[in-house]
Amino acid sequence: MKKIDSITVRLPYITQKIFIGCDIFDFALREIIAMRYDKLIVVVDSNFYKLIKSNLERCSENKIADIIVISPVKKYKEFNACSEIIQKMVQAKMNRNCCLIAIGGGYVGDITGFVATNYMRGIDFIQIPTTVMSMSDAIIGKVAINFGGIKNLLGSFYSPRYTFCDINLLLTLNKKEIIFGLVEVWKHTLVVNDNSIARKIADYLDGKSYPDIFFDLTKFSLKTKKKIVENDFNDKNGIHKALSLGHTYANYLEQKFNLRHGEAVFYGIILEIILSLHFNTINQDKFNSIKPLIKKFEENIGMLHKIQTLINIEEIINNLKFDKINQGNHFTFVLLTKNGFCVKSNVTSGNLREAFIEFSKFNIL
Ligand SMILES: NC(=O)c1ccc[n+]([C@@H]2O[C@H](COP(=O)([O-])OP(=O)(O)OC[C@H]3O[C@@H](n4cnc5c(N)ncnc54)[C@H](O)[C@@H]3O)[C@@H](O)[C@H]2O)c1
Repeated sequence: MKKIDSITVRLPYITQKIFIGCDIFDFALREIIAMRYDKLIVVVDSNFYKLIKSNLERCSENKIADIIVISPVKKYKEFNACSEIIQKMVQAKMNRNCCLIAIGGGYVGDITGFVATNYMRGIDFIQIPTTVMSMSDAIIGKVAINFGGIKNLLGSFYSPRYTFCDINLLLTLNKKEIIFGLVEVWKHTLVVNDNSIARKIADYLDGKSYPDIFFDLTKFSLKTKKKIVENDFNDKNGIHKALSLGHTYANYLEQKFNLRHGEAVFYGIILEIILSLHFNTINQDKFNSIKPLIKKFEENIGMLHKIQTLINIEEIINNLKFDKINQGNHFTFVLLTKNGFCVKSNVTSGNLREAFIEFSKFNIL
């Protein structure tokens, strides 16, 4: 019998059941086929489809109405990818008792979830995440697509009803993608001040991995996210903003430098840590305790110098006016504190320019 753990996330609009295990992909497909849905449509990106085509063919029965293979290219996290899915759903006469299955990373999850939340005012979707990013961060509480070049402009607070995290699916993921996903796990360690998990990430970056590491890291991230999202599912009472650490700058960096999401979040976190020092929400000792892990990430990602050279603070300030967590004329940032995070809502352009000078001089290696 395979070891399978589960986590239940209780949200006002849905109870989400998450299964985590190793080698549970076929189990997941069998469970899904046996569910009460009239029809299922699978959405998968073309890279990953090649790897699971035969599993899907083995398990698919009449209940799977279609398998939609989408391009993994990032620019397609736009509405045109959604309309392709919607057209196939209409052709398959999908009603409210049908379900979408997203198999892939965060892009597939967001596009599929966005369609599920809108089709006939909302149908169920099920997610089988296949990247560290999606397993640890993109399966609870929200879905979004880009619009007009603005990241995550359209979306809603929505979760899959069931999620199956098969850690073995990560075996085919390349090391860079794993590291980008680990940035989000690191973000979770920072906002809840968990040093033991941060050490496990450092061990992985040092090449000292052990078999269950991704099982442990995924469980930690999902439990952290569960606690935050159950307390503030629609980002209204402040605690949900913890999940935005690094993202205020990251949304700009991702578009400007064509970065992968995890890369952009990494540099976004550095910028927000420097802002935390600027506002004295953390002291130098706390910063020194975080620095070794920043260094290990930078040794693997290696874009700091390019970003310091090409970044334009006036462009950032202009771009930040669209940020979702701003209030009034000032900017809102999630900053680090000694034991976790705080939300600073009266940040001015002047503050950002001053902290930015520190960032341009920042040298970690
Ligand atoms: N909704 C949320 O809460 C949330 C949270 C975090 C990120 N996101 C979104 O997720 C997206 C990034 O997701 P991602 O980092 O998973 O990227 P991704 O979905 O683009 O996947 C990365 C690449 O890995 C390939 N791939 C996926 N799984 C694989 C596997 N197991 N083996 C081999 N190749 C595999 C894909 O084809 C793709 O080329 C961004 O759009 C981001 O905004 C959403």
